Amino acid sequence: MRGRFITFEGGEGAGKTTQIARLRDRLRTSGREVVATREPGGSPGADQIRSLLVEGEPGRWDAITELLLIFAARRDHLRRTVWPALDRGAIVLCDRFTDSSMAYQGYGRALGRETVDRVRQVAIGDFQPDVTLILDLPIETGLARAGARGGKENRFENFDAEFHARVREGFLDIAAREPARCVVLDAAQPVEALAAAVWSAVGARLPPA
Ligand code: TYD
Repeated sequence: MRGRFITFEGGEGAGKTTQIARLRDRLRTSGREVVATREPGGSPGADQIRSLLVEGEPGRWDAITELLLIFAARRDHLRRTVWPALDRGAIVLCDRFTDSSMAYQGYGRALGRETVDRVRQVAIGDFQPDVTLILDLPIETGLARAGARGGKENRFENFDAEFHARVREGFLDIAAREPARCVVLDAAQPVEALAAAVWSAVGARLPPA
């Protein structure tokens, strides 16, 4: 695959969407093909699975069912959207990926690392992002921002505070285990400063335009 796969991760309300849009626009000015996508979703089938996951009561799925739905959506997204784009040489920016499954389902829902790794291996093999930006924020700040957005995609926001604390620890643990791939950024800083930090983390790792 000739392109680059860059993922954005973090808890609720970390500002991933804003930062992805900024990075996408900046990369496009250099004439590259840039594809911005998100999970769960990013293909017609995965978008249908998304509504099962992000709407409704926290308890509507047990943790294993939830994990399997997420990886079913992810496999479809990769096959139909991400892998073809990487084969064309595009830079793919993805809002959440497998680290979210490890943080939310592995740590938050306490399935454990091994279970998530086993399902990941079956669903997508060894495929990994080239770079992962983890936008880190105190959970109270993030949940307040996410709550202010409203809408019906709030199933995970409605898990309890201990859940969200485990998710945050999960992301930081992933970053500590994989320092070559993961960069942790302070998502409490102003948007402009965060965009600059994203740019310096990503810029060095891109192929020549
Ligand atoms: P997203 O739309 O990124 O939510 P937000 O912008 O509010 O952070 O993701 C939807 C929700 O799906 C989010 O609450 C986290 C959850 N999720 C998981 O639990 N596991 C996963 O693997 C993914 C991709 C998302």
